[in-house]
Amino acid sequence: MKLLRLISDTIVRGPLYAIANYRIHTSAPLDPTENWQFWTKPKSSLLEWIARSYPPAAVRSTYIDAMLEREHSQGIEAHYDVSNDFYALFLNHKYRFYTCAEFHHDTETIETAQTHKAEYLLSLLNLQGDEKILDLGCGWGAMLKFLQDHGHRGELTGFTLSREQQIYAHQELNLNVALSNFITENFEGAPYDRVISIGALEHVRPKEIEQMYQKIYDALVPGGLAVHQFFSLTREVCPTSVVMLQLFFPGSMLVMHHVHLDAAQRVGFEISHDSLHDYRPTLRAWYERLVANKSRALELVNLETFNRYMTFFPISWLFFQQHDADLHRIVMRKPV
Ligand SMILES: C[S@@+](CC[C@H](N)C(=O)[O-])C[C@H]1O[C@@H](n2cnc3c(N)ncnc32)[C@H](O)[C@@H]1O
Repeated sequence: MKLLRLISDTIVRGPLYAIANYRIHTSAPLDPTENWQFWTKPKSSLLEWIARSYPPAAVRSTYIDAMLEREHSQGIEAHYDVSNDFYALFLNHKYRFYTCAEFHHDTETIETAQTHKAEYLLSLLNLQGDEKILDLGCGWGAMLKFLQDHGHRGELTGFTLSREQQIYAHQELNLNVALSNFITENFEGAPYDRVISIGALEHVRPKEIEQMYQKIYDALVPGGLAVHQFFSLTREVCPTSVVMLQLFFPGSMLVMHHVHLDAAQRVGFEISHDSLHDYRPTLRAWYERLVANKSRALELVNLETFNRYMTFFPISWLFFQQHDADLHRIVMRKPV
């Protein structure tokens, strides 16, 4: 059965996807050192070439097109509604950010690095203290809670597609978080002074991008700011690595960075900031935390889920190491 899946995955989705899927379904927890090295250590140029070229571009885009026919929200729920306690094992404790942190040096903890990231985003938001803020894809409410803890008095709202996240944000943090799809549903409560998104625009499919920026633009007051952190493709429209990412986010597809900027500018935004940041230390930190909490993790989730995250972090690290994608922080301003 496993061998048949390996063969069919190799033919249809390429060797990277097939090997990742095979390893996820092994009958024991993946060995931490072997597994990290397996994905991240440099390969021979022949292997690199095969990994980057197969499946051929036309097959890749046909496969991705078929994946994009699926209901997007199901892929999101499948990834996030695993177990809040499981995520707590590897995310930073105070705010539970599941997005790229800001490491100033190697010895910093994920807690400190996530605080640096939140402070950076706070500086981009340029707040007086009473602005009404909407967080698109707010996760476990990390940024909203950070704002509250830093004295923000204005109304705070978050949207997520994950029921588990909404329950946590309500029950543990007493935040106003709605189960609302920011792509397909109206932005209840508009207008807003600020719209923020951290690690959510990656889930917006190519054909929905311009319409989403239009909604953000319409939801902002004149002079309002949208601050986004997300990663986008750098070199190729559909690299083989995005086929492999379907294992973790079925039905999501990244776009080239300029697609975001062009769409935002077409709807009227002025881009006043665009900075690059390194996702790799965060992925490595999550991996180390998951490994350190392996026994508890295996009590909370099944073996396949544990191995899926053990595979997701090094593969994502490789994705950034190979420069298939870059992480950006962007400020967009709606003119007065
Ligand atoms: C990687 S998590 C980031 C969470 C949070 N911003 C943080 O920094 O930890 C992505 C979030 O986007 C949400 N999301 C993705 N697509 C969405 C959509 N169409 N509507 C609402 N939320 C969405 C997910 O539910 C999840 O909360």
